[in-house]
Amino acid sequence: MEVVIFKNADNVASRGAGLVAEMLNVKPDAVFGFATGSTPIDLYRNLVARHRKGELSFRHTTSFNLDEYMGIAADNPQSYRTFMNREFFDHVDIDKNKTHLPACESSENPQLVGPEYEAKIEQVGGIDLQILGIGYNGHIGFNEPSSSLSSRTRVKTLTRRTLEDNSRMFTDGEFQPKLAITMGIGTIMEARRILLLATGKSKANAVAAMVEGPLTAMCPASVLQMHERVTVLIDEQAADGLIYREYYDLAHRENRALKKRFGEFYASG
Ligand code: F6R
Repeated sequence: MEVVIFKNADNVASRGAGLVAEMLNVKPDAVFGFATGSTPIDLYRNLVARHRKGELSFRHTTSFNLDEYMGIAADNPQSYRTFMNREFFDHVDIDKNKTHLPACESSENPQLVGPEYEAKIEQVGGIDLQILGIGYNGHIGFNEPSSSLSSRTRVKTLTRRTLEDNSRMFTDGEFQPKLAITMGIGTIMEARRILLLATGKSKANAVAAMVEGPLTAMCPASVLQMHERVTVLIDEQAADGLIYREYYDLAHRENRALKKRFGEFYASG
């Protein structure tokens, strides 16, 4: 993994947006995998600002979100579709018909939704750049600890911890789904490039387990150790538990120098 540590969350968002912009430069019709949650909001804001300045366009892109709550309608204020529209899609020139979430309303059979979602990803040639956050328990997407490391898009029951963490988004008495449909870990691993963002002290344990811990389904993000092109962008607080921190800084400086001379190949860890 390439681990890049920044002073603060703003720098993480701006570097993340920079990498999205680099991808758009090389491939204007790139296929993106998007995440929801608090972490990528600043990244989306940064991209919106760059779009408004005329620096980048999403006109030819396609996107697939990681996950969606089960049994809530797309126009529900709590749906991840609503989140993506509000935080990003409504403010850029992306064609919403080409933005996808693994939505499953109450009348639909969740067992069909997963394979259909996978088929759509395959039809467009797979995901070029997948953006990820990480849960306090090491989940990616809603692949909770103990998820199969080769799982595909399917229904997952959320852990009590995830429900508690996410309850901040729901008002008292509002329905909070306990199930979600999420891209599987195997699905995520097929993305050609992965960008994981984590900020804040509360993510330090999960980040350390992901980067330096054993490869285990108990920290689903640790599977990223098996992916060839993962960039982990974190702030100093989220880097707090890393033993090899100094080495990552050194490797990043060396990679940057090589990238300048030989191009993007050296950017990955
Ligand atoms: C969201 C998702 C989750 C979040 C994770 C961190 O689509 O897939 O894995 O990335 O729960 O959430 P935040 O950023 O709110 O801490």
